[in-house]
Amino acid sequence: MFDPRALRKDFPMYRNSIEMQGKPLVWLDNASTTFKPDCVLKAVESYYTHETSNSHRGDYDLCYNMDVKIQETRETIQRFINAKNSAEIVFTSGTTGSLNLVAYGYAAKYLTKDDEILLTEAEHASNVLPWFKVAETIGCKVSYIPLTEDGRLTAENLLKVISKKTKVVAVAHVTNVLGYIAPIKELAKIAHEYGAILVCDGAQSVPHIPTNVQDLDVDFLAFSGHKLCGPTGIGVLYGKFDLLKLTDPFMTGGGMNAKFDMCGDVGYLNPPLRFEAGTQNIEGILGLKAAIDYISSIGMENINHYEEELKKYAVEQLLKTGNCTIYNAKSEAAIVTFNINDVFAQDAATFLNSRGIACRSGQHCAKILNDYLGVVATVRASFYFYTTKEDVDALVDAVKHGKEFLDAYFI
Ligand code: ALA
Repeated sequence: MFDPRALRKDFPMYRNSIEMQGKPLVWLDNASTTFKPDCVLKAVESYYTHETSNSHRGDYDLCYNMDVKIQETRETIQRFINAKNSAEIVFTSGTTGSLNLVAYGYAAKYLTKDDEILLTEAEHASNVLPWFKVAETIGCKVSYIPLTEDGRLTAENLLKVISKKTKVVAVAHVTNVLGYIAPIKELAKIAHEYGAILVCDGAQSVPHIPTNVQDLDVDFLAFSGHKLCGPTGIGVLYGKFDLLKLTDPFMTGGGMNAKFDMCGDVGYLNPPLRFEAGTQNIEGILGLKAAIDYISSIGMENINHYEEELKKYAVEQLLKTGNCTIYNAKSEAAIVTFNINDVFAQDAATFLNSRGIACRSGQHCAKILNDYLGVVATVRASFYFYTTKEDVDALVDAVKHGKEFLDAYFI
């Protein structure tokens, strides 16, 4: 078992003893974004200080070396998620960019007005709004797979609503508010039996649990670099190669075409370059490789196991306070979504801030879910492998005293 305290030495945000409100920072917003280790910063800096060049656009050494590094990054990601081929790895700006690419490049091309897209009420905006747009353009329907009473997505519930009209099932592997792990492999099998594709939002899963796209048999998987210790502005779309070949580019421009002439005769490159118009986010790609190498060296099984234990500890300790309502005590992921009893979520987050604790509050970009939960807003504490029991204890202590403090403040 690794030691999160020892790993913190790799992170300037910890070494620099960052404070909020004059208190040591307790960072519990990892579902939003994560800290970056030295190796990621070094990879980005090295690009600007030793390796600056464009990619795929020069016949000199610096450029060739960069092309090699970019290909190495694709291969690193291929191994990390066990894709069949590095050509199935497309660089995007993040999960949102990846999901929009599938929606506009694939679904908008192949769906017709009689078709249906299935989502759940727990999806993040980035896995809802692009599908609304597609449905609006085509005139097809968006429907929802019912969740269990707890908010879980099950294969049984998919079977209740899927039909031959369903062409896309788009769901999160781990939801960003409740943190349930969806049975993606079973869902993909059902989707395929009905002739639909399974689009997986991996933003909250890929950084935390081992991912094997061939075993899961997902058709597309989207994830972001910044949620797994990498830079912002870089993400990945994995797609089965045959499906990527059928997908239209979302953006056109340099680097993605094979030819064009005055008459508008255009030929596109094959995937993945077809989807990477313009100069790539090279610093992001190099930083992403460093991040994936870093978390792989810790081990995804180790990360997953540690986070599961920490989640259990947090839930037990928070429930002991008798001062809060937890909405996802039974979910697997290291996300605890709660309210301090009788305290509005954003007031609670402001109080936590006064103690140096960073938690997200509100609707967490999953606006349909709040109706489902029957609450206006919640507080979300989300952990990563560098989160310690002491961080959790700080949160628990704040929750113990939150109501008294806020009562005194607002009277
Ligand atoms: N998707 C990120 C979150 O859930 C921003 O917080």
